Amino acid sequence: MKELRGLKIIRVTGLIRKVIAALGSTGVIRVTSAIIIMTVIVSCSPEGEVVNVYSSRHYEVDNKLLARFTGETGIKVNLVGADSDQLITRLRMEGERTRADVLITADASRLSMAKELGLLQKMESPAIREKVPPHWRDSDMYWTGLTKRVRFFVYDPLRVNRDELSGYEGLTGEEWKGRVLVRSSNSHYNQSLMSSIIAVHGEEGALKWAEGMVANMAREPSGNDRDQVKFIAAGLGDVAIINSYYMGLLHNSQNSEERNVARKVEVFFPNQSGRGSHVNISGAGITAAAENRENGLKLIGFLLSIEAQEQIAFENFEYPVLPDARWPDLLRQWGTFSADTVSLEELGRFREQSVMIFNQAGWR
Ligand code: FE2
Repeated sequence: MKELRGLKIIRVTGLIRKVIAALGSTGVIRVTSAIIIMTVIVSCSPEGEVVNVYSSRHYEVDNKLLARFTGETGIKVNLVGADSDQLITRLRMEGERTRADVLITADASRLSMAKELGLLQKMESPAIREKVPPHWRDSDMYWTGLTKRVRFFVYDPLRVNRDELSGYEGLTGEEWKGRVLVRSSNSHYNQSLMSSIIAVHGEEGALKWAEGMVANMAREPSGNDRDQVKFIAAGLGDVAIINSYYMGLLHNSQNSEERNVARKVEVFFPNQSGRGSHVNISGAGITAAAENRENGLKLIGFLLSIEAQEQIAFENFEYPVLPDARWPDLLRQWGTFSADTVSLEELGRFREQSVMIFNQAGWR
């Protein structure tokens, strides 16, 4: 961005010279006209106001929201989409020269990682502090949650009696042998879930849990969260751990097969009689080297408006972080639930241990 600005300045200086030459170089009035013309040229510059976003979110609703943001503010959004680890590596390599102003991830632990690596800056925003409940943002305000997602169960009601289900720990019982479906341990969603297990049971307890899960898996982990639901519908397993919004996306899919799959399963919020279900956030922070910090804050503020929060809830079925935002019918039907209150910052601290435990347990 700095280099780009340099180029812009060279281009503008050249333009002033041309304009002055065209107007003639004598007389103050002519020079003043040249300055006025230059101002117009700069404000009409194709660059205009921008915000550069690195995002690992991969949902259709985001494109609509970013377009709405540009329509409402005139700020153009340049979006780079990739996996959050790739984006963090890129930010590290680019350092001070990065073009990114905002980092958006679909997992709190990656935002904690970006903060630890010095890739984010404090957001001095009373509005964010006021709007977002403390549990769903960084206590030092380096990042804020934008949406919540519950890592819950889906099950085949023909093969599972709802009373058999309890919590994540319950799935390691003998009775679940060969019946449990879950994606691979590469998934950041699973790594954060594992961190929440470490937080409550310690590393040894977490290893036992992971081994118990591996022993009960219906098949080697493969596919994404949506695929786990399809595996249940295909009779390959009975219960799966997935992120809640994927059920909303399946129910409302353009593809009738996906809608049929969704209708075949029921949802269950684990650990309701104990610490609550594991809830992760998708969130955002301003990069340490942001050139367009104010525009970045405007974008985050926009994503935290009631209208944007409800659009995300109604179209992508994530839970809003704003307590006052409305939920779509499907989420209301599922009902309220209690969420694990372990701090998301603490989960970030167990990131490396969680990967080690998965490896030790042989969870692919
Ligand atoms: Fe996702």
